Amino acid sequence: MARKRKVTLINGPNLNLLGKRSPEIYGSQTLADIEAGLREQAEQLSIELDCFQDNSEGALVSKIQSCETESDGVIINPGAYSHTSIAIRDALEYLSHPIIEVHLSNIFQREEFRAHSFVSELAAGVICGLGPKGYSLALDALDEMLN
Ligand code: DQA
Repeated sequence: MARKRKVTLINGPNLNLLGKRSPEIYGSQTLADIEAGLREQAEQLSIELDCFQDNSEGALVSKIQSCETESDGVIINPGAYSHTSIAIRDALEYLSHPIIEVHLSNIFQREEFRAHSFVSELAAGVICGLGPKGYSLALDALDEMLN
């Protein structure tokens, strides 16, 4: 039997506050709600899903590095680090697996500093502005890519 495909979902700083943080921008679902929905979707797709969130850059870099051997694809919302972190960009560049970048909000409709992401040039796809649905679309896209 073929090995189960593994996808890692990585959320960066402040995304642990989803549901409480600016709900008019990020919606009312908590990260636990979003992860629970994705786990169900992953099960339907026969994908093993590993969910990770951290507020610190170093922990995110270490997790991304581990994905090279532990995972077949990555969904990442690096939060504010998207716009600032070359360390996270470099860790993602090390991966040979597909990466999908997700933002809940439309980063192009907001402050100018949010319009550039260091991650986007490395991503197979970028989804923004669709709220939690973006993560679900990313998982469907990875399902196709990893088939
Ligand atoms: C975000 C957008 C970022 O600009 C912001 O810093 C976040 C969340 C999003 O999901 O819309 O923390 O990545």
